[in-house]
Amino acid sequence: MTKVVRFHELGGPEVMRVEDLEPGEPGPGEVRIRVEAIGLNRAEALFRRGVYIEPVRRFPARLGAEAAGVVEAVGPGVTGFAPGQAVSTVPGFSQNDYGVYAERAIVPAWALLRRPDGMDAVAGAAVWMPYLTAYGALVEVGGMRPGDAVALNAASSGVGLAAIQTANRVGARPIAITRGNGKRERLLAEGAAEVIVAGEEDVPTRLMELTGGRGVEYVFDAVAGPGVTDLARAVAPGGTHFLYGALSGLPTPYPGFDLGMPALNMRTYTVLETMRDPERLRRGTEFVASGLRDGAFRPVVDRVFPLEEIVEAHRHMETGDQFGKIVVTTSA
Ligand SMILES: NC(=O)c1ccc[n+]([C@@H]2O[C@H](COP(=O)([O-])OP(=O)(O)OC[C@H]3O[C@@H](n4cnc5c(N)ncnc54)[C@H](OP(=O)(O)O)[C@@H]3O)[C@@H](O)[C@H]2O)c1
Repeated sequence: MTKVVRFHELGGPEVMRVEDLEPGEPGPGEVRIRVEAIGLNRAEALFRRGVYIEPVRRFPARLGAEAAGVVEAVGPGVTGFAPGQAVSTVPGFSQNDYGVYAERAIVPAWALLRRPDGMDAVAGAAVWMPYLTAYGALVEVGGMRPGDAVALNAASSGVGLAAIQTANRVGARPIAITRGNGKRERLLAEGAAEVIVAGEEDVPTRLMELTGGRGVEYVFDAVAGPGVTDLARAVAPGGTHFLYGALSGLPTPYPGFDLGMPALNMRTYTVLETMRDPERLRRGTEFVASGLRDGAFRPVVDRVFPLEEIVEAHRHMETGDQFGKIVVTTSA
C-alpha cells in the first residue's frame, strides 16, 4: 500500500485526504516512481476548488503534476528509463489522468526527465514548472532580447522568481511588482533590477519612469483582473502583455479600446505550449539545465512540509505569504 492524496468533493484545503491505496502497475508508456518531493502549484488549489481551466472529471480525484523521485517500475514499450534512476516530472499532463501527490505515482514516460547529477529531490521538484513557464512565454513566444524590460507581478511566486532569473539570463531587465513592502529586499537579492510595491506606488507611472518613457517590452502577468488596464498602459508599442495566471479572481477586461487602440499584443499563455511541443520542450530543458549548471538559476524554496501535512501546505499556499516554491516531501 502507498499513501495517496485524494479529494472526494470540491472545496478548500480540508477536502484533501491522505489515503492508503495499491500503487498499481504502470501500463504501456507509463512509469511508476517512488516520489521523494512534490512541488506545489496554484493550479492544484484551483483544481481542488473546481475553478481551474479544466474541471474535475471524476471523484475521488488526485492532485499534482510536479515531483522528483526515483524510477521503480517501467511499463511496456518504455525506453530510456530504468529502476533506480533519479527523475523529475515536467508538469504537462492532466490531473484528471495522473496525480503525483503520493508516495508512489504512475506518470507518462514522456513527462519524465533525468534529474541532473547533484540536484536533490526538493530542488528537483521546484525547477521545471517555474522555469519552463517563464522560458516558454518570454523566450520562445516573446523572443526576449538583451536590454528588453519585463514587468512581472506576483514576483515572489515560484514562477515570478524564475522569470526574474530568466530575464537576467538573457540580459533583459526584470522589474518586479509585489503586493507588500516586506518582500522588496529579498526580491532585489534574487535579481530584480527594480521593485514596485503595488498599492504604495503608481505602477504604470513607475514603469514609464524606469524605462525612460519607453514602456516595457513585456508584462508577465499572473494576477489579471481589472489591473490589466494600468499594466497595459505601460507596455511599449509592439510589446506583449502575457496573461498566465488569474490570482485576482476577477473578470479581466480587454483594455485596448480604453487605451486608444495602441499596438498592444495581449495573450493568454500556459506552459502546455512548451510542454506539448517536443522542440520547444527540448530547447527549454536545455536552457534551464544550462542555467542550473552555471548557477544562474537557483530554485527558491519557501517551505518544506511532510505529505501528512498536505492540508497545511495548501493553506500556506493560499495565504499568498510565501517567497518561492512550497515543497512537500514523503517518507517513502
Ligand atoms: N500559465 C501557466 O502555465 C502557469 C504555470 C505555473 C503557474 N501559473 C500561475 O502563476 C502564478 C504563480 O504560481 P505559483 O504556483 O508559482 O505561485 P503562487 O503560490 O500562485 O503565487 C504566490 C504569490 O502570488 C502573489 N499573490 C498571491 N495571491 C495573490 C492575489 N490574490 N493577488 C495578487 N497576487 C497574489 C504573491 O506574491 P507577492 O506577495 O510578491 O505579490 C504570492 O507570493 C499563479 O497565478 C499560477 O496559476 C501559470
